[in-house]
Amino acid sequence: MTKTTKDSCENLTLHLPRLTAADRERLFSHKPFTIWLTGLSGAGKSTLAFSMEKLLVDSGKPAFVLDGDNVRHGLCKGLGFSPEDRSENIRRIAEVARMMNEAGVIVLVACISPCRLQREQAKLTIGEENFIEVYLNTPLSVCESLDPKGLYRKARAGLIPEFTGISAVYEEPVAPSLVIDTSQKSISECLQEVMGKAESWWLKNSDRHR
Ligand code: ADX
Repeated sequence: MTKTTKDSCENLTLHLPRLTAADRERLFSHKPFTIWLTGLSGAGKSTLAFSMEKLLVDSGKPAFVLDGDNVRHGLCKGLGFSPEDRSENIRRIAEVARMMNEAGVIVLVACISPCRLQREQAKLTIGEENFIEVYLNTPLSVCESLDPKGLYRKARAGLIPEFTGISAVYEEPVAPSLVIDTSQKSISECLQEVMGKAESWWLKNSDRHR
């Protein structure tokens, strides 16, 4: 891979777009945002994100899921789980989310994003006003007992290094927009709560949401 240096933009020219995000908001009659679902593996981030995507699309709104497991097959292929690789994973996801928002699409990110700093940087990239952080604080004991992918078992056996919650840290968000323990609610209750956040966000931004 070519090494990226500080000067890597030196000979590049930014082209100013003719259409702005505001033009697209008018065109599509809605204001897009990014819901950033963070939490341990097995907490239900992907399930919630894909359910919400379906609900939004069924109601005529463009929405798209950027899922950690999925993007690691393409956009983020080759990245591992060291702190540096996770930061790069999250940086790429945030850049794509920002572009998709600008294009008018509601983005639902489902990735562990274990470090506060990584999520703060993602928020800056996407824009604080468009970033809704949702923390699935489902306890480790529940995620581990469900273990839908069999990964906790492997991690406990020492077969997966730097596994979040077992041998790598997860830093809880300081002031998330919403906290849900998915082990205490049904999927439709969780969905209702996140949709509620989206609705109140739209209300707050109603001058821009037509
Ligand atoms: S993140 O930390 O960089 O945000 P991401 O959400 O993309 O992680 O990927 C997490 C998924 O990768 C998990 O749901 C799990 O399926 C898989 N995985 C494989 N190895 C690890 C690991 N060491 N730690 C956490 N998840 C892992």
